[in-house]
Amino acid sequence: MELTGSIGMKGGFQFRYQNLIGEGRVTVKALKDLQPAMEQAVVAVRKIRVEGFSKAHLSKDGTPEHVYFPRQAYLEQGNPNDEESIERLEKLGAAWKDSVDAAVFIGIGGSYLGDKVIFDLATKPYWNQLPKKERNGYPQIYFAGNNVDGTALQGIMRTLTLQAQHVKHPLHIQLVPISKSGTTMEPLTSFAALLSYMESHPEWFTVDVTAVTGLDEDASLLYRLAKENNWPAFSIPEGIGGRFCILSNPGLLMCAALGYDIRSLLEGAREMSELCLATEGADNPALLNASLKYLAAEKLGADIEVLMGYGDALQCLGAWYVQLLAESLGKRTDRNGKTVYYGRTPVVAVGTTDMHSMTQQHQDGKRNKVIQFLEVEKPAEPIIVKNPFPQEKAFALYADKEMNVLLKAALTANETALTEDGRLNARYVLPELAPRYVGQLLMFLMYSIAYEGELADVDAYDQPGVEAYKRIMKAELAKG
Ligand code: PA5
Repeated sequence: MELTGSIGMKGGFQFRYQNLIGEGRVTVKALKDLQPAMEQAVVAVRKIRVEGFSKAHLSKDGTPEHVYFPRQAYLEQGNPNDEESIERLEKLGAAWKDSVDAAVFIGIGGSYLGDKVIFDLATKPYWNQLPKKERNGYPQIYFAGNNVDGTALQGIMRTLTLQAQHVKHPLHIQLVPISKSGTTMEPLTSFAALLSYMESHPEWFTVDVTAVTGLDEDASLLYRLAKENNWPAFSIPEGIGGRFCILSNPGLLMCAALGYDIRSLLEGAREMSELCLATEGADNPALLNASLKYLAAEKLGADIEVLMGYGDALQCLGAWYVQLLAESLGKRTDRNGKTVYYGRTPVVAVGTTDMHSMTQQHQDGKRNKVIQFLEVEKPAEPIIVKNPFPQEKAFALYADKEMNVLLKAALTANETALTEDGRLNARYVLPELAPRYVGQLLMFLMYSIAYEGELADVDAYDQPGVEAYKRIMKAELAKG
């Protein structure tokens, strides 16, 4: 196994891992000893891609359930996406452009986080405050249903009502409830509240609904409602769990709504998928990422994992990854039923913001963390720091520098300080925030999780732990 310290795609995503390996870190010997298990993990994940099943994975009803996350990248009939489904999304995007004033995406967990990631990456800051022309005719975007929070919901109603009263009426609103099960409390209640409010004010609002849900009439209340009310419905296919659905209809509908290039996003995902399926050992970036963190946890007690994106737009990507890691690998038992209490606690950090808070703990606290930096090499909007204070020597340090140069200096300084103290860290690098590279990164993270599930022998595709509170909550609510 040749360890070069950096691996990735030519001209694309890179994984720099040299600060995870060495004396006091993950040793080369430990990695070599893991090689047979890594080989098995490669075979198992190839099997998932081909057969669509993962060893011992069952749905929450106890029946075998497909695992289709790699298939999202391949446009083929029978896969989560095909040519027809992409064209349907593109048509929806074209129809909404210029005609829809605001779209409210209503979902939680996997039915929210992926959409928020795409929104943050596809739009300019303060999107909803920009004039429509600056938004190229694309709608304002709001999020609801990602909590049970009446104040937040009132805030959306009030904001849209004020727009209708003072700017334009009726406002053309698209409500987009997203729920795979079609029965989740948070999105259903928020959707119901928004729909009834808007329908009771036809002088202010024209409301349309586009539902995204599992197309199973018996199981999904949302799908039944869509059929009864003739709302267009987009599927969340069987085999795509919430935390993996950013690359199928839920996430892609947000892309369509904002003109974000779906085909490039999936092309990048496909490139990463192909690389992972074709390579082994240290040539496989996701396998290496998974193996190093597995060993860091097992041998060095690194049971906290920080994803620290440099730039505000990357914060929600961290939140999306938190769900992916926590739900996939946080498991009480392995696939043989043995109690293992596996998984790391995921943490989102943002550079440089959290260098003024969490970094103290990363640098001096317990040696139980892997810090992963996420860097975007080329900024979307370069901006030079002018110097209105030429007499101030202290300001000369920053004067006439490009903001991105300052950001990079901060990242490198953080990385160097951790490394000099023997702290585990790695860097993920994207050339720029273009959809293709985002697709590569998302697939890299999904494959990393899949490989680590194999190494730890846990089911990375179920989430039995969330059923415990749901049972208690439903019983309480049923009491009235
Ligand atoms: O990953 C998951 O499965 C969960 O986080 C779900 O996405 C979340 O609970 C929402 O479920 P649903 O889409 O059925 O409303």
